[in-house]
Amino acid sequence: MIHTRLQKTSEISPDLPSVYLIGKSTDISAGGFSDEEKVYINKRIEKNDEFILVHRLDSYKCLVVNDYTRPFFSQLEFMRTVSRKLLSLVSSNDHTSLVMVDLVNDSELILALVEGLILNNYRFDKYQRKDGRKDNFPDLISIYSANLREENVSNLEVLCNAVYLARNLVNEPLSHLNAEGLAEEIRNLAGNSGFSAEVMGKDRIEALQMGGLLAVNRGSIDPPTFSILEWKPENCVNEKPIVLIGKGIVYDTGGLSLKPTAKSMDYMKSDMAGAAAVAGVFYALAGCGIPVHVIGLVPATDNRPGGNAIVPGDVITMYDGTSVEVMNTDAEGRLILADALSWAKQYDPHLVIDLATLTGSASAAIGMQGSVAMQKSADEWYEALEESGYYTHERLVEFPLWEEYMDMLKSDIADIKNIGGKQAGAITAGKFLEHFISFPWIHLDIAGTAFLHSDDNYRKKGGTAVGVRLLFDFFSKHAGK
Ligand code: BES
Ligand code: ZN
Ligand code: ZN
Repeated sequence: MIHTRLQKTSEISPDLPSVYLIGKSTDISAGGFSDEEKVYINKRIEKNDEFILVHRLDSYKCLVVNDYTRPFFSQLEFMRTVSRKLLSLVSSNDHTSLVMVDLVNDSELILALVEGLILNNYRFDKYQRKDGRKDNFPDLISIYSANLREENVSNLEVLCNAVYLARNLVNEPLSHLNAEGLAEEIRNLAGNSGFSAEVMGKDRIEALQMGGLLAVNRGSIDPPTFSILEWKPENCVNEKPIVLIGKGIVYDTGGLSLKPTAKSMDYMKSDMAGAAAVAGVFYALAGCGIPVHVIGLVPATDNRPGGNAIVPGDVITMYDGTSVEVMNTDAEGRLILADALSWAKQYDPHLVIDLATLTGSASAAIGMQGSVAMQKSADEWYEALEESGYYTHERLVEFPLWEEYMDMLKSDIADIKNIGGKQAGAITAGKFLEHFISFPWIHLDIAGTAFLHSDDNYRKKGGTAVGVRLLFDFFSKHAGK
């Protein structure tokens, strides 16, 4: 969790370490700078510096210069990324308080700067010896911005916590987080933040005949879980719920279609990043009291080649009765998601969104710069989500669900098979899921964006929590916030 408190302030305190947000032509007289400093600053602005540092005897001030001619989305992303320079600065001294001053009257920008700074400071080091290292990060960040609302500040704090906890869940190895552990974490979060959570264990899953989830679980020694989350405050804007589904494969060895280790199986603890995102979104929605009715479904298990594991060629019966010929046990995500999609029907949802680290193909197609999206009967919803994608820089690219792709899933002996051919792997996975839906639906394949192998500014190496900021923005705007 974040140890830094965020607060709105209504005074500029020039003697404290401070960061000023300005534009090229912004009047900096309000900043309490000396004449000498002003000359220096103006010279640097002319040279197009975006990050200007002014040292004081026992303190510092710095200025972030925004370029207002750029599209607004790029300005926001510039704020988040320039924060990395700020982090080097704040961690090189031990001041415990930082003031952020917005001299241009745009609270969204100053909040993005704070967001980037906090997300940049994330580390997953709980299994490392501390060796006296200390975290030189302010305990308190005060934000001065004319039109800032208290609520904006407290929501940002909750959202950053949601990102941290989703990243933690992804980074946690299987040795410390199996399916039951994940369900337990979800239950704890629910208790802490105010949404409700019910966990169905193996007996219940068997009684319900969730054949996809049970099939994937057969090679495992740990039981599967199916968690149902709900956030339904009194003043919801939607009459019918929106359902979020997260792929919760706590580890994907591939099963008997075993993955090779190097660069393939090694980081498959991250195959529950969809589930982690759902947990993070619920934490944020409940923590901020966003008035939307949302249901979350998290089917979870590891995928292993144990003695009783399904073999390629097996035929299984899914929760909705569809028979599936499992030609590759590594295409397991779609099997557990399909059962969750069928289960979602009982809620008569307005919209269902699933998040899944589903295919290497999605990651091969567009890399880590965006997630692959597919949708059916959800044009308007998708437009809003795509917009949130640009706003949060968790961008989406829509792939088609043309009907011809369905031919690739034809099976000789069952209703469908679980893999297509060599080409269009992300799409055939989407087509497989589409077979199980009967409501407006958006599918997000986050295989390329959920886990990074090196830092990318405020998206750190490891779990990124992709989906949390995206969906929080989507729901906040839907709720008119
Ligand atoms: N979890 C993987 C997808 C994945 C790959 C996620 C790389 C993150 C990074 C998924 O279960 C999988 O193995 N998919 C197969 C499907 C194939 C067998 C049709 C794939 O993409 O290779
Ligand atoms: Zn797999
Ligand atoms: Zn997988």
